[in-house]
Amino acid sequence: MRPTILVTGAEGQIGFELVRLLAPHGDVIAANRARLDLAQADAIVAAVRGAKPALIVNAGAYTAVDRAESEVSVARAVNGRAPGILAEEAKRLGALLIHYSTDYVFDGARSTPYPEDAAPAPLNVYGETKLAGERAIAAVGGHALVFRTSWVYGLRGKNFLLTMRRLAAERDELSIVADQIGVPNWSHALAEATVRVVAAGLSVAVDRAGLYHLSATGRASWHEFAKAIVGDAARPRVVPITTAEYPTPARRPAYGVLATQRFEAAFGFALAEWRETLARCMASTKERAG
Ligand SMILES: NC(=O)c1ccc[n+]([C@@H]2O[C@H](COP(=O)([O-])OP(=O)(O)OC[C@H]3O[C@@H](n4cnc5c(N)ncnc54)[C@H](OP(=O)(O)O)[C@@H]3O)[C@@H](O)[C@H]2O)c1
Repeated sequence: MRPTILVTGAEGQIGFELVRLLAPHGDVIAANRARLDLAQADAIVAAVRGAKPALIVNAGAYTAVDRAESEVSVARAVNGRAPGILAEEAKRLGALLIHYSTDYVFDGARSTPYPEDAAPAPLNVYGETKLAGERAIAAVGGHALVFRTSWVYGLRGKNFLLTMRRLAAERDELSIVADQIGVPNWSHALAEATVRVVAAGLSVAVDRAGLYHLSATGRASWHEFAKAIVGDAARPRVVPITTAEYPTPARRPAYGVLATQRFEAAFGFALAEWRETLARCMASTKERAG
């Protein structure tokens, strides 16, 4: 029998890709924000009890990092409380929950990749609320895979890749922060990895329940990422600046590279290097355009 799979945040960067890639593996219920508002506890309970899924993939989140500083209660509800409710409902059904979290749970004080058990110390409300979500899932003690990732981009939604492309068409010079280090991750590659885990069997995934870092390999500054997007053309010039020169409402970690060995050992594969994946993403745009 085909399992029912409930995907929340179905129109987000990862959610959109998941809905399509999961379709061969079950009957997918694509719950966008209009269908399931994760800020409403009762709505979550009703949606899960109505759907009775074998798998819930929570791709919904409050991801506006700067806005979260002033919209704390909604960020808490969506990122901190909803994952715990999904975990409770999944446990009640004996279902698996897959959830995503972020490198922003860390303060960025390290200079070597963060393992899963490094002490979290978020610098901003978004990171705090995402950490609360991880903890809420752990407290339920059901079957859950939590994948922390970083710097998600793709061909739809709001992200750095699309912003750089827009600005490159408008300006002769882009000033981009060069002293924050992380790893860019294509939403499609993250969804593919998630589906590969699911395709190996839900019982295998249940056996390996826990917290994992899921990321492309390598490292980059935002400046390097911008240069890789814009390419070698003379225009626009991509000028490195410091975080201090680009103040934002939310503080961001200076370093957020995630060590991925635990995921690789558990699931038997690694994601590619970020530049290779970016090239795949950009080539797929050309295919669509051509
Ligand atoms: N984006 C990143 O750089 C990044 C980095 C590390 C980890 N992550 C994590 O990866 C996961 C997926 O993120 P993403 O990049 O795909 O984010 P995204 O593109 O912002 O997608 C999140 C989705 O959640 C939806 N959403 C927001 N509030 C909601 C609510 N109250 N009820 C239901 N849905 C709601 C959004 O809808 P609207 O568009 O209508 O708001 C959006 O479709 C999240 O857990 C995120 O924390 C993301």
